[in-house]
Amino acid sequence: MHDPTTLADAVRRGLTAAAKSLPPSLFYDERGSRLFDRITELPEYYLTRAERSIFEGAGNAIVAEAARHAASPLTVLELGAGNASKTQVLLRALVRRQGSTRFVPADVSPAPLEEARARLAREEPQLDVRPHLGTHAEALAAARAWDGARLVLFIGSSIGNYEDEDAIELLTEIRRALGAEGSLLLGTDLRKSPELLLPAYDDAQGVTSEFNKNVLRRINRELGGRFDLECFRHVALWNDAASCIEMHLESTRAQRVRIDALDLEVSFAARERIHTESSHKYDEGRVERLLAAAGLARSAEFKDERSLFAVHLAHAR
Ligand code: AVJ
Repeated sequence: MHDPTTLADAVRRGLTAAAKSLPPSLFYDERGSRLFDRITELPEYYLTRAERSIFEGAGNAIVAEAARHAASPLTVLELGAGNASKTQVLLRALVRRQGSTRFVPADVSPAPLEEARARLAREEPQLDVRPHLGTHAEALAAARAWDGARLVLFIGSSIGNYEDEDAIELLTEIRRALGAEGSLLLGTDLRKSPELLLPAYDDAQGVTSEFNKNVLRRINRELGGRFDLECFRHVALWNDAASCIEMHLESTRAQRVRIDALDLEVSFAARERIHTESSHKYDEGRVERLLAAAGLARSAEFKDERSLFAVHLAHAR
């Protein structure tokens, strides 16, 4: 895994490379996390609704399958939990089954974690919520020391931001944290027509464009960057060979942009792009290959009624 070292390092590395890129983890400052929440409510962004409908329809079956592998009550760790609003549906099913349940939402962004904690304390009194502010690696290291069985959630197709090699590395880290009784619940967006995919990443209201450009705004604010947001255009495209949606920021003209804190001037040719995100879309075979390469085996799969999205339960082999 290429964990974000510091913002400054990531930006310098990405913008001085021959093919410019910025890691998608940089989207999620406070404003970016809010914009992402708005994305999840857009009519075009079907992912969140599809996954929530799976949890609503199959929540009991999902927790029963996870519990079948465990001799003790499950503690839930969610990687990249954000405000954990979908997760609440699953947590209720788990509380119905095993009574009081410990839930550890982990995220690098403090505001949504606090929102999750406050809402769950109010609405789900049987949950013992212990937020973890930190990276996936840090949260998994902490989980390795817990006693009892655990259910690790990596949902929302967050895995889609990883190239397969990095996904296998992260899934391997997850498998090490699961132990013999633990389960992973993995959410993956599925391959489908670009006619459905593209609008989900280029919505009519322009929220995704704002979300994409937020990385430049963040560089301006945190690193003294001089990006003029009007001089960059949001681009979403379907890469069929790689089976992913790519987001880019395209320079509308030749320009030079200073970043004071890095003492760096970045040159852009007209139409040159910064690659800011890949969101991979999976078929069955690819999910199974990733899990197998990480020493995991899938025991169950659940889809929404339109087969837009899938969640998989997996265990160490
Ligand atoms: C949070 C990575 C799953 O790829 O769909 C939403 C982020 N990017 N719109 C995704 C995102 C543009 C999202 N993930």
